[in-house]
Amino acid sequence: METSQELYVKKIKDGTVIDHITPGYALEVLMILGINGKDGEVVSAAINVESGRQRHKDIVKIQNRELKPSEVDKIALIAPNATINIIRNYGVVSKKPVELPPTIRGMMKCDNPSCISNSREPIKTQFGVEQRQPARLRCYFCGHIMEREDILKQF
Ligand code: CTP
Repeated sequence: METSQELYVKKIKDGTVIDHITPGYALEVLMILGINGKDGEVVSAAINVESGRQRHKDIVKIQNRELKPSEVDKIALIAPNATINIIRNYGVVSKKPVELPPTIRGMMKCDNPSCISNSREPIKTQFGVEQRQPARLRCYFCGHIMEREDILKQF
């Protein structure tokens, strides 16, 4: 349902719209995607806009770029209720909720320097999701807990 958000951010012709981001988290979503404005990409963000029935949300629109699945998976860590809309020629050709799987593999490293996953062994990191929002992950190998802020620092 379109709401007053249209007053803030106009529709795009081609690209990706990340919608229903937890209010206040749009800038962190940009950070996790490695978008800092220096690459010339055209990006707009609406923060704390109305989303019907007195609820609020953030929206990020990235022109001329369709996000890869690995990028979408990262967004789920920060904004587990976001939806990814792929836009082509002004139409929404795909709309998918992000998914936070019960186990996160190989996406980030464990903060514990003594963890076996930080040794020279070729071990793919693995974390169990203890809490979705804010995200809290537990390392499968050493039990170390990674809080949301620790996760963000890696991106
Ligand atoms: N959008 C856009 N440019 C387009 C088409 C859509 O920026 N050319 C944006 C809309 O503003 C909206 C999102 O993409 O934020 C999804 O569009 P749409 O499915 O049309 O809106 P809703 O029905 O409100 O979506 P939902 O049901 O997911 O809330």
